[in-house]
Amino acid sequence: MVNTLGLLLGLGMALALVGLHLLKGTSKPVPEDIASEVLEQRASTVPETDFPEPYNRSIGGGGGAGAVAGGAAEGELEEESEEDEGFDPESIPEDEVEYYEIEFVKEGETIEVANNESILDAGEEEGWDLPYACRQGQCLSCGGRVASGEDASEFIRHTNNETLSDDEMEKGYMLTCTAHPTTSFSVETDETP
Ligand code: FES
Repeated sequence: MVNTLGLLLGLGMALALVGLHLLKGTSKPVPEDIASEVLEQRASTVPETDFPEPYNRSIGGGGGAGAVAGGAAEGELEEESEEDEGFDPESIPEDEVEYYEIEFVKEGETIEVANNESILDAGEEEGWDLPYACRQGQCLSCGGRVASGEDASEFIRHTNNETLSDDEMEKGYMLTCTAHPTTSFSVETDETP
């Protein structure tokens, strides 16, 4: 009789413990979707960029940072080229136009060229058959050179230069179609690097 009572008590306690364990085990809320929670946490560590999804996320944090840095570098380049090519000859008021003596060495003449006029246009007005193609600073057909071989940027300003490097300009080369004089000098037409 005692043994039966003890057995029943032991069984009852065991059931109570199991029940308690189950209650404790389920008392902690389980996230509905652990996978999406982890993805959201990872996504929050990736810097935001202008790139559309999914490229932004697929390249990871480092790539995202690289993309942001790349965008900044591009912006700087744009700024630099804007500064370099910001010259607009049409914005010079008529009473502020200046004229310079430009010697065309190969043509054997010196003419006055206004700073709102290109070297090529001025030469053509004299009736000279000077080389050109695009007339927009995008090729090398109209190439000319400061006769002294000095840095061309000390004598002209380009409205657009998409072909000559800084090194080439330092050697005196210019694109006569977009080159406007800033002082008097001698030019050799039909000269390219
Ligand atoms: S004609 Fe093309 S750059 Fe001058």
